[in-house]
Amino acid sequence: MSTTEIIITRPDDWHLHLRDGSMLKAVAPSSSADFGRAIIMPNLVPPITTPEQAVLYRQRIMDAIPENHDFEPLMTLYLTESTNPDDVSRGASSGLIKAVKLYPAGATTNSDSGVRNMDVVMPVLEKMAKIGLPLLVHGEVTDEDVDIFDREAVFIDTVLEPLRSHLPELRIVMEHVTTVTGVEYVMASDNNLAATITTHHLIINRNTILAGGIKPHYYCLPVAKREKHRLALRTAATSGNSRFFLGTDSAPHCDGTKLSTCGCAGIFTSPNTLGCLTTVFEQENALGNLEAFVSLNGPEFYRFPPNSSKIRLFKTKVPVLFPDKINTQEGPVTVFDPMFPIHWQVTPHTED
Ligand code: NCD
Ligand code: ZN
Repeated sequence: MSTTEIIITRPDDWHLHLRDGSMLKAVAPSSSADFGRAIIMPNLVPPITTPEQAVLYRQRIMDAIPENHDFEPLMTLYLTESTNPDDVSRGASSGLIKAVKLYPAGATTNSDSGVRNMDVVMPVLEKMAKIGLPLLVHGEVTDEDVDIFDREAVFIDTVLEPLRSHLPELRIVMEHVTTVTGVEYVMASDNNLAATITTHHLIINRNTILAGGIKPHYYCLPVAKREKHRLALRTAATSGNSRFFLGTDSAPHCDGTKLSTCGCAGIFTSPNTLGCLTTVFEQENALGNLEAFVSLNGPEFYRFPPNSSKIRLFKTKVPVLFPDKINTQEGPVTVFDPMFPIHWQVTPHTED
């Protein structure tokens, strides 16, 4: 008999872009409906670089969450070459700041204020290592002469490995890992390194973006790689290995900015992420490991308790319908199309 119902600890999203203003109001409920907590990316314009900015942004997020949703935004700071180590430790010791995000300058959407020279930020990283605050890395180099499909592997060799040898106590999450190289690197390392995996990288490969016509809604950074990498990500995510957990990297952009001669990177997956993932785990005969990936491994790495509430996923005869787009004051935002029907419905679960 195939499984038709699963009850699991309420999941968390360890990498989420909620944006600001009217976009925030439009997209936040899609995450807070299904997730208990999310690590909030700080790449606003201008970025969130101080605890003072983070506390205000946190309030704007709380204001955008429907009253009947129980959701906690976990705030991060954007690392720049002028980040003050004391700001970081102050933010962390107040309980507000849960991690710091490293974007190599120019790596992705809104990363111009990112880091060019790692030596300059070393005092901040040393402080973080001392207080146990995780560093979240966008693991791609930005050198123009490095092929976009090789940028993760080159980042590991030229930035991550030297950093980890210099500061082995620093706790690091390789965000949105996309390659066999990345997966193997995490597996071979010690417990101070973990990785998030997105929903979409388990489903699409580079053919999805480029074969049979260019499909801007599947373009994100790091860009999806060839099929063998997608298969390695699926194996890692569905294995139950505690060093891999969900970070959706749901990154909404209006259609107008995606469907352009220089389209933005980012895929909006929040509305159907759990349905997509449950389908992936079902396809891999690994439904028993879904809870580890979406609800348990992340809190374990961040040293938080898992959520106390539960959700129920049940199988439906007819596919669950999700909107193709959600409307925002800035224009429509297209929802990720996994190219397969989703037969899993999510509801809160209360013990009776
Ligand atoms: C993200 C965004 O739009 O903010 N885009 C993306 O393709 N993932 C930035 C990022 O996390 O790289
Ligand atoms: Zn992201």
